[in-house]
Amino acid sequence: MIPQTDPKASYLAHQAEIETAIARVLASGWYILGQEVAAFEQEFADYIGVTAAVGVANGTDALELALRSLDIGPGDAVATVSHTAVATVAAIELVGATPILLDIDPHTYTLDPTHLAQAIQEFPNLRAVIPVHLYGHPAAMPEIMALAEEHQLAVIEDCSQSHGAKLGDRTTGTWGDFAAFSLYPTKNLGAIGDGGVLISNNNVLADRAKSLREYGWKDRYISHEAGLNSRLDEIQAAVLRVKLRHLERDNDCRRAIAQQYTSALGKLSRLHPPAIALSVKHVYHQYVIQCDQRDQFRLFLKNQGIGTGLHYPMPVHQQPAYQHHHTTSLGLPVTESIRPRICSLPMYPQLTNDQVERTILSLKAWGQKS
Ligand SMILES: Cc1ncc(COP(=O)(O)O)c(C=O)c1O
Repeated sequence: MIPQTDPKASYLAHQAEIETAIARVLASGWYILGQEVAAFEQEFADYIGVTAAVGVANGTDALELALRSLDIGPGDAVATVSHTAVATVAAIELVGATPILLDIDPHTYTLDPTHLAQAIQEFPNLRAVIPVHLYGHPAAMPEIMALAEEHQLAVIEDCSQSHGAKLGDRTTGTWGDFAAFSLYPTKNLGAIGDGGVLISNNNVLADRAKSLREYGWKDRYISHEAGLNSRLDEIQAAVLRVKLRHLERDNDCRRAIAQQYTSALGKLSRLHPPAIALSVKHVYHQYVIQCDQRDQFRLFLKNQGIGTGLHYPMPVHQQPAYQHHHTTSLGLPVTESIRPRICSLPMYPQLTNDQVERTILSLKAWGQKS
């Protein structure tokens, strides 16, 4: 079976280097927030091109800490998309703010700026927007930033699926007040457990997030404000430093696999490859196609030993926990129309040529079925 994602493959790819890094931490006897975390923070900030990075326990906490550092809480509304991991929306609710769920562009699957403009009209308490660079494709940041600047909205980029993606010469994570990254094992940059990192070009905001990640401490054991416990551990940081050195090459592999899929799909009328906007350097966290008879298609592939995924089976606003959601009068037509049509093909850098070829043969066989 070719799995749709394979965290084990990503660990094994750099096994020797990773084991050396882990041994270094074990020998040091220092396991939480130490030299490895500080070095990872510096190296990650340099890689993205920002001034500060704060290692935290996971991507959801990174979003929550960003919101808290911006003093966003009860009474405030925060706009984001419904077509995302539920974590994006959960973080808004964790600080007591109200999520406003917006529709996406049908080609890039990222926030449609016209829906943000509508939310600004309809929700006077809108304080912030969280664009999600979903699947590794950057959101329309110039348009989103123009609206945010005009209406004094804070911007937190959700980069959990876009480590290294670019729009023009700018890397995702460099536009907003903050950018939050998940470092979950299957991400383009993944730890060997939970992890997250928050970045900013505003050192005052970053220092506040750093204090809030550990009970609001400035001096040990003295809380200046109420914070949380969201620390990155040394083993994860040491592993992430290794993986960061391979990230560009891993992203190149993802792009090469995507290119093979896209050129094969171009000849098949029943399956539709993902679009890519101008000047985008996609990092293909997921390779998501659209098709009719999606469930039959997935079963057909499964019977040929090929695993597929759904990202996501249900948009957030249709999930039982979010029936109370708020949206604009424009509704969520694109989000709802793609729900039964999307399907993620196998995508991780260690996929072999043979595995990609096998998937393509199955896609062609499905394409030829009447
Ligand atoms: C878009 C997006 N946002 C946030 C998160 C939350 O990250 P974590 O699982 O590390 O809390 C994820 C991870 O699945 C994600 O894909």
